[in-house]
Amino acid sequence: MKLLLNFIVLSLSAVSLAAASAAEPGLRRRRRDQMTTVLTEPDSADEGPVFGGKVTVKFTNEAFQQPFGPFFVLTHNTDETPLFTVGDEASAGLKHLAENGDPSMLIEAYNNSAHAGYVDAIVAGVPFFGGDSLELTVPYDEDFPYISVVSMAINTNDCFVGLSGVPLAPGLVVEAPGYDSGTEENNELCSSIPGPACAGVSSDNEASGNGEGFVHVHRGFFGVGDLSQSGYDWRNPMMKVEMSL
Ligand SMILES: *[C@@H]1O[C@H](CO)[C@@H](O)[C@H](O)[C@H]1NC(C)=O
Repeated sequence: MKLLLNFIVLSLSAVSLAAASAAEPGLRRRRRDQMTTVLTEPDSADEGPVFGGKVTVKFTNEAFQQPFGPFFVLTHNTDETPLFTVGDEASAGLKHLAENGDPSMLIEAYNNSAHAGYVDAIVAGVPFFGGDSLELTVPYDEDFPYISVVSMAINTNDCFVGLSGVPLAPGLVVEAPGYDSGTEENNELCSSIPGPACAGVSSDNEASGNGEGFVHVHRGFFGVGDLSQSGYDWRNPMMKVEMSL
């Protein structure tokens, strides 16, 4: 149930499918009522271990001047603790990633979980600047048919991009917004921003505290601290995710 909710919330950020197929009409109507843009379900979603044992997942940074840090990725089933739920408090591991770009606490939390299959952190190639893509070959196991992913937008206090409990389904395209982990106020001071925009100003990365308390769609960059709004603000979606065989 939690996972389904996650999927619906995520769908608000515009989920669409490249390939047309016959979806069950009731499902489509219900989804439309929830203001999602899921157009179809892939035919293969209910068929178990197809996809030749793997799915290629491509992440593209769609933002200007907001590079992404390391990606934390896991495949899992519906019993797994959600990586994040919009409206809920961030976990300690997500807080750590969203404020510092560091996936190590999430690896500790999810690696060796009975409900997770593939668990990894992708560090090679970081940071991923606007226009850059990361392409991952994710093992497909019918016991772990969902994927969750998070990566920090590193020129912010605590913005991250991600997916929480989305079916691994070739043909699925997701447009995801930037989320605020709610763990650190957006003071936009370089003393609390780890990204390259602050390299010449401060290499500190203090937790500024005073977080909003829940994961929500990020409000953007307002130029209230050391960096300008014209330089670092963005519009959503922030990340495109494309799944293929
Ligand atoms: C997860 O734990 C195993 C050992 O149990 C280790 O080999 C693997 O590298 C760990 N995964 C990550 C992403 O650190």
